[in-house]
Amino acid sequence: SSFNQYIQTPQPFESIAHRGASYYAPENTFAAFQKAVELGFDYIELDVRVTKDEQLVVIHDADVERTTTGKGYIGDLTIRELKELDAGSWFSPEFHEERIPLLEDILIQFGHQIGILIEMKAPEDQPEMIELLANALQFHTTNGLNAHSIKVQSFNSQAVKLFHSLVPTISTGILLNTPLDLLQLSSYQSFASFLSIHHQLLSKSVIGYAQKYGFEIFTWTIKKPKEYHAIKRLGVQGIITDEDFRLTEATWLL
Ligand code: G3P
Ligand code: CA
Repeated sequence: SSFNQYIQTPQPFESIAHRGASYYAPENTFAAFQKAVELGFDYIELDVRVTKDEQLVVIHDADVERTTTGKGYIGDLTIRELKELDAGSWFSPEFHEERIPLLEDILIQFGHQIGILIEMKAPEDQPEMIELLANALQFHTTNGLNAHSIKVQSFNSQAVKLFHSLVPTISTGILLNTPLDLLQLSSYQSFASFLSIHHQLLSKSVIGYAQKYGFEIFTWTIKKPKEYHAIKRLGVQGIITDEDFRLTEATWLL
């Protein structure tokens, strides 16, 4: 028998920094993305929304209250107004110079250093987001940005379907926080290549089903080292995490 049968091809596995390395720096800011690069994450995850003047910005919530010094909804504020806000002090005073980033600036600054997993946040509220994102990524991937280092996901499968029809070269995924529906899964196959599943919904059988349908599996959001390593062993293709747990295995086993 050949020796080769004992050698397993290493499974691709991505460590993904949730809203950047958001345990160490304010979420969805340059500082958090820079930290993810320094720690050696494979991807940053970020959320996009649309400003009043139709710019894609990187922020999780629909309004600016939790993560900035301002008030109001992203969709009611211009990029000029948003850029005045301090997006770091809420986390720690040392980050007071952080601003809400434009997606454009993140693509330029980080697109050649680390993978970028972009979440279209609530596209049902801002449907123009889909085309704006498609245009931006189409432009950058035809001007030197590697399409393989970008992924796009959303809880809204219709938005993912439309995005995929506009930019089929970029891999797309569906975010899931409810139990898997097999009929639905098969309907996603024509426009999505991965599923981002809430970690409490994961099991060997769920992973088995999803993989039988040909999807890669990502999971979110892991907050404990023990969870991280247990889930990694289940055979997922990526873990979305605030904190870097890659080197913790030895310590928690002790
Ligand atoms: O990428 C998964 C995760 O980001 C989805 O939840 O609320 O952090 O955007 P949320
Ligand atoms: Ca997200």
